[in-house]
Amino acid sequence: MIYLDNAATTLQKPPQVREAVAYALEHLASPGRGGHPAAMEAADVLYRARSAAAQLFDAEPEQVVFTMNATHGLNIAIKSLVHPGDVVLLSGFEHNAVLRPLYALGAKLRICGRRLFDPEDTVAAFAASLTPEVKAVVCTHVSNVFGYQLPVERIAALCRERGVPLIVDASQSAGLLPVSLKGWQAAYVAMPGHKGLYGPQGTGILLCGQVPQPLMEGGTGVLSRQWTMPEELPERAEAGTHNMPGICGLLAGLTYLRQEDGRTRRSREEQLTRQLCRGLASMDHVRVFTGSPQANVVSAVLQNLDSETAAQHLAEEGIAVRAGLHCAPLAHESAGTLEGGTVRFSLSAFTTETEIIRTLEVVERLKSFA
Ligand code: ALA
Repeated sequence: MIYLDNAATTLQKPPQVREAVAYALEHLASPGRGGHPAAMEAADVLYRARSAAAQLFDAEPEQVVFTMNATHGLNIAIKSLVHPGDVVLLSGFEHNAVLRPLYALGAKLRICGRRLFDPEDTVAAFAASLTPEVKAVVCTHVSNVFGYQLPVERIAALCRERGVPLIVDASQSAGLLPVSLKGWQAAYVAMPGHKGLYGPQGTGILLCGQVPQPLMEGGTGVLSRQWTMPEELPERAEAGTHNMPGICGLLAGLTYLRQEDGRTRRSREEQLTRQLCRGLASMDHVRVFTGSPQANVVSAVLQNLDSETAAQHLAEEGIAVRAGLHCAPLAHESAGTLEGGTVRFSLSAFTTETEIIRTLEVVERLKSFA
């Protein structure tokens, strides 16, 4: 199979991730829940994973909270900062993991920056909309549908200038692009473990620039006499038993990333993404959404096939992509593709040039379908 659905989850992982998960199932008990060797080793792995993430994302280890996925982290962040009726500013490319919690809270949404691949317009739109009544800003780093890399650094600077807390959704950028909690001085940065960090599903990280409200209460292995959650991070946000097989696998993914030369990996993925975009753009029956800066995600529309049917044909040829709305109707509305959605191709460190060439050949052949 040619796997080009890495924006949903990276299926091809470094082999050490699988080994780490298997090791944890056999050897790791619950961290902080006992003084015996299996609990102590689990505590050590947990701390090493926290430290590895802290180093990669420019944070302190205690600012790294382990979550189930990015959605979980975004819910903690949003529900800590936003109250019913608050005005919240967000980009036109946010995922339902942002929209739905905000809507459920009854926040007043101010959506800005809806032009694809136009960072100047995005910054200008945020600057104009960031008025004193805005209580929080939420911005995705990279659109999960179009790969548009939003100018988060500049939006973070605006938020700092105006004293408004910022939540960054780094779901598609973590592991690929530089992410810095301290550099951005963001209130929160949420990311999944199972995409660009090459960890297993069921893992995620919330980087906390502030102390959040707990989304769940429960055992933490510390301050057990207290009827309330600890005030300190990370325990305040980590109730219940940790997903040690997941976190041990995630540590292996983080270690893989730290051993690789990030710049070289990124430029390889960029080159393959450009090759894919150029190839798609040269086909009369394809409209491809491309521009700069673009990460490793590409959306396209075929004139002769709806996106689900096109994806089905690709699957029959052994090519895995995702079609439809990608849980991001707002992004599709911004780009004018809400009606039929798009076919999305998303790459990873394991994508090869041969796979891109073969994918282009198959898309070219789809021209003959009515
Ligand atoms: N949000 C993920 C995607 O884009 C699951 O497919």
